[in-house]
Amino acid sequence: MIKYIHTIFVLLFISCNNYQNLYNISSPDNKIKLEFSIKNGVPFYKIVKNNNLIIDYSKLGIVLDGNGNLDRNFKIINTNIKSHNSKWNTIFGEEKEIINNYNELSVELDQNNKKLKITFRVFNDGVGFRYEIENQESINNYNILDEKTEFKLSKKDTAWWIPAFSYRRYEFLYAKTAIDDISKNTYSKMVEDIRYDSIGIDAAHTPLTIKKENGILISIHEANLNDYSSMTLAPRGKGLIEAELYPWSDGIKVRANEKIISPWRTIQISNNSSDLLNSNLILNLNEDPDSLEDFSWVKPGKYMGIWWEMIGTNESTWWPSKNHGANTKKVLEYIDFASKNGFEGLLVEGWNKGWHPEWCCRGDGKKFSFTETQPDFDIDKIYKYGKERNVFLVGHHETGGQIENYEAQLENAFKFYNKYGIKNIKTGYVNDVSKNIKRKNKDGKIVKEWHHGQYMIRHFRKVIQLAAKYKLNIITHEPIKDTGIRRKYPNYISREGAKGQEFNGFSSNGVNHATVLPFTRLLSGPMDYTPGVFKLNNFRYVSPGSNVIDENAIIPSTLAKELALYVVYYSPMQMAADLPKHYQSHYDAFKFIKQVPVIWEKKKIINSKIGEYVTIARKELNSEDWYLGSITNENKRNFTISLDFLKENRNYLATIYSDTKNTNWKNNQMEYHIKSIEVNKNSKLDIFLAAGGGTAIQFKEIIN
Ligand code: NOJ
Repeated sequence: MIKYIHTIFVLLFISCNNYQNLYNISSPDNKIKLEFSIKNGVPFYKIVKNNNLIIDYSKLGIVLDGNGNLDRNFKIINTNIKSHNSKWNTIFGEEKEIINNYNELSVELDQNNKKLKITFRVFNDGVGFRYEIENQESINNYNILDEKTEFKLSKKDTAWWIPAFSYRRYEFLYAKTAIDDISKNTYSKMVEDIRYDSIGIDAAHTPLTIKKENGILISIHEANLNDYSSMTLAPRGKGLIEAELYPWSDGIKVRANEKIISPWRTIQISNNSSDLLNSNLILNLNEDPDSLEDFSWVKPGKYMGIWWEMIGTNESTWWPSKNHGANTKKVLEYIDFASKNGFEGLLVEGWNKGWHPEWCCRGDGKKFSFTETQPDFDIDKIYKYGKERNVFLVGHHETGGQIENYEAQLENAFKFYNKYGIKNIKTGYVNDVSKNIKRKNKDGKIVKEWHHGQYMIRHFRKVIQLAAKYKLNIITHEPIKDTGIRRKYPNYISREGAKGQEFNGFSSNGVNHATVLPFTRLLSGPMDYTPGVFKLNNFRYVSPGSNVIDENAIIPSTLAKELALYVVYYSPMQMAADLPKHYQSHYDAFKFIKQVPVIWEKKKIINSKIGEYVTIARKELNSEDWYLGSITNENKRNFTISLDFLKENRNYLATIYSDTKNTNWKNNQMEYHIKSIEVNKNSKLDIFLAAGGGTAIQFKEIIN
């Protein structure tokens, strides 16, 4: 039920420190306070939680092309305050029911007849605000040249960040530094040398997770990025950061023919790391699907793939060769294994024409075809064989960042997949240079766009909308970050958008990355991390067909941690990433992957510390069963877990998949232990996590 209560608030027209016309609104629980004010014609906002300063006076504004600066000489001409309290149900998600409760202030500003509206929503878990520029006679060009949004933090605040305007999109390890130190130089000294790729400014991607000097945690991000440019955050010194939008190749940041509604700028605020994981603010600032759109055909699930043998074990190739992975015989074998173990999806990469050894990574190689198969891939036979066994291909569209080639084939490619019962497509955009998405402009000249500018945001939206027409779900690798639009487009079912497991295949993410991701990348939405690698050492061949193992290659994880990741990292499409032969060697542990659900009714964050450990329990949708995942960084840990989340007066069989005392991420990753015990709501469970390890538990209700 959506219920609007128009409340009459007392507006405070007071004046202090030259900030005039102060308007205050609070969160429904009264803890967060937002102040809007005008100083010498410039709009400012400020946020406080329980008397702790979160964001000090920070400027707001937009600069339009040719129409002047909508960031000064303003007068307030109207304000409106209202409250909202409702609940809505997700089609599927981490939680079934979400509470949407906020107080809203909207302010209409006038600058010599040009009007700008700013709307703030204050929730118990943070603040969102956005700009609206209505169609108006005094404005004849709505293109945006700059956004002037500031976030005034303290220079003692520290952030976990990845560099924006850099060559590998979001696929970086996180640096942790003071706000003012966000730069390519610092990153190059601390994490990875990216100085050679310096065409962009110094800025961080969002979500940007920040620990305030007073201990409060905040995450700055955006919601409902729909037809705009992606926001990054650039340090300006003394703890000030400013929004920086990715420009088009001609310097314009956002193109618009008429009125503009910006994405929401969001600041999630929490007293501790666990509460940060409970925030639904981003989804609450998005819209439901159009009422005429039916998304009941979207079915989350699990899939396997002919994939790790290319990217991980290096046994096969994407391109035609004697080790070509996507060959009919192998696909049928995978279908047998997937079917026997209850997987409905099988990703096959390298099935189509266009793959060749140099396919990667500059976006100008041979063009991919999305409707023509390689000669050794008999899709008719595969479809028939799979259908009889209830296994359907997960399609694969690696575009190499060649957008025009992909868009020209898009509809035919979707029709082609429809014919073969395909329900999910993994798309990919590998093009490893900062600003290298080639586009023909209206003069027929090739220009280069950024991966996260408006051109690409429009592309991703086009794909998702057209995919919905063909009842297809999309899982994007090298995507645009999630800003909650999965609420409106539930078929945007998952995405990568960070250094995922695959980097452990061909390089290494190190042991501590896994415990940073939940508090950074995963705050934006589900991630196709592709967990479940069981062979964690001696897994990689030096080249396809060589039979020589690369002894230096290890996955910095443990087998029990690989299981725990299915619970810790939410994704409605989860992959069992490893090869059937590796699962066969640990078939008892594989049972957990087969049984763990992908959609949930609710969650409980049991404990957490950013970058160190996190334990999450999730309740399966439409069941009383619970699952728990706990992971740690390089340090081993013991936890005593209270099982008070279980249902009263019920007994459960807890099956615990854990590291042993001898396990560790470096040289004994695959030693694990499985035991089952009876527990109930009043039980306390002692769990052990080896260095770099984890624990996964299934709590199955005992029905007598
Ligand atoms: C990069 C993707 O992230 C990976 O999963 C995929 O296998 C390769 N591109 C090839 O498309």
